[in-house]
Amino acid sequence: FTAPTHPTNPITRQTATVLWNRSITPAVFRIGLSCQTGYAHAIAGQFVMVRPAGQVTPLLGRPFSIYSLVRNSGEVTGIELLIKVAGKGTGRLSGLKEGAPVSLLGPLGNGFDIHLNDDRAFLVAGGIGVAPLVFLAETMIAGGFPARQCELFFGGRSADDLQGCDRLSRMDMPVHRVTEDGSAGKTGRVTSRVTEIMTVRRPDRIYACGPWAMLGALAGIAESAGIPCQVSVETMMGCGMGVCLSCVVHTRDPAVPYRHVCTDGPVMDSRLIQF
Ligand SMILES: Cc1cc2nc3c(=O)[nH]c(=O)nc-3n(C[C@H](O)[C@H](O)[C@H](O)COP(=O)(O)OP(=O)(O)OC[C@H]3O[C@@H](n4cnc5c(N)ncnc54)[C@H](O)[C@@H]3O)c2cc1C
Ligand code: FES
Repeated sequence: FTAPTHPTNPITRQTATVLWNRSITPAVFRIGLSCQTGYAHAIAGQFVMVRPAGQVTPLLGRPFSIYSLVRNSGEVTGIELLIKVAGKGTGRLSGLKEGAPVSLLGPLGNGFDIHLNDDRAFLVAGGIGVAPLVFLAETMIAGGFPARQCELFFGGRSADDLQGCDRLSRMDMPVHRVTEDGSAGKTGRVTSRVTEIMTVRRPDRIYACGPWAMLGALAGIAESAGIPCQVSVETMMGCGMGVCLSCVVHTRDPAVPYRHVCTDGPVMDSRLIQF
């Protein structure tokens, strides 16, 4: 078992400023953060720990994938996050106004191991798990990967869960929408759609992010078909830096039975994880 590795970008802790905070639906918003330094070499799949600065609660930052880099005259001057309100921390962030200070730690974790020489890639997202995959797709296409051969499978319970991928449709990338209640795209599970299309167009690699059950099902599909699959795992996190042990996952490797999602991931070879 091997986990993708990347050169480590220096991790910085800084006070960033909210550039914009735009709601897409009542529960999902995009927030732009102006950073003084540190994100020019951030990799798709890396994440940040964020909390409003100067507030007592939440005490701990919350982890969010980098959704895109903010550029000014070609220079990276910030990052954008795509966030779904889940509880107290995300609720507080959703209310921040332009100019508000936030405590920002990152970039953290390894990021996706991108293979630009593949012929075809499937990107599989469940709900808000689309955030790192949008950054990944944009990186791949900017690196010369043909947009038509980079297909996004985007699943959720209903149409409300399928937010945040408009930029990819505009870039000519095929987007397969699937909802369990049939309110958008095909009806059913996103993993069924992957299996269906895979018989017609076999991908060289799968990159995925979403709920644990979806990643587990996809890992099984990829392993049976012999297709390499990288999954970005979302667990509870306290520190984001390997200290608090709140993010461990069980592996299938008896030599290393546990891995930290924050430092060994969040992107891992799907065969490594005991789903
Ligand atoms: C590496 C990583 C990247 C992530 N990227 C994004 C992203 O781009 N956009 C986004 O909206 N969310 C993302 N998440 C999930 C996000 O961190 C949680 O939704 C957030 O921490 C919840 O904080 P809260 O205070 O609002 O909720 P809490 O009050 O702490 O919890 C509310 C509910 O959310 C659940 N929850 C808490 N933390 C997580 C978690 N890490 N994963 C799943 N469920 C959780 C709790 O069990 C509880 O049911 C990511 C998580 C990780 C680990
Ligand atoms: S989040 Fe603290 S060890 Fe991973």
